[in-house]
Amino acid sequence: MKKVAIFGSGRGSNALSLLEYFDENPDVEVSLIVSNKKDTGILQHAYDYYIPSFVVDKYAMENEKRLSKVLQDEQIDYIVLAGFLWLIPENIVKKYEGKIINIHPSLLPDFGGHGMYGMNVHNAVFNSGNKISGISIHEVNQNYDDGAIIYQEECEISDCKSPQEVAAKILELEHKNYPLVVDNWIKSKMS
Ligand code: GRF
Repeated sequence: MKKVAIFGSGRGSNALSLLEYFDENPDVEVSLIVSNKKDTGILQHAYDYYIPSFVVDKYAMENEKRLSKVLQDEQIDYIVLAGFLWLIPENIVKKYEGKIINIHPSLLPDFGGHGMYGMNVHNAVFNSGNKISGISIHEVNQNYDDGAIIYQEECEISDCKSPQEVAAKILELEHKNYPLVVDNWIKSKMS
């Protein structure tokens, strides 16, 4: 059994799609939810699924010993980022090299990097006049949105009349793909 921690900062809709997908999965278990905010949707999902959760503040991220210990205590094998807004501490990136994955709501390298998250991405895509957007799922290194791309999928957005409509279309694509891509990625690491 491989153990996964999901890190998020907000609503947690991708976390929920992962929890639903891996519920009672014989090979992969979501064993921990980490959030950098209290009162988030993602923590509610942890509660609903009886999964331990851990809230980190800036101090705990900068002095990552406690977070490392929590990951070690829970015997976490893989870290899945789902809307987590902070950089992962260097020591944890090193320790989990090739074992941290993230989803980004654009076709990287376009519309990625520091400050490009949530509606910032969709506003920029919409204002660019691009007719295509999509999702990128990638491994995580020390920089924002920079690790090896594992999977991308495009979608037509020329019919979208606002950045909110782009966001809704992209979110649907994320929910459809992220759990499956995470599952296959973990399997590829095991073989
Ligand atoms: C998603 O669009 C994801 O791509 C990005 O942050 C958003 C998180 O949404 N990294 P949610 O919290 O999963 O609903």
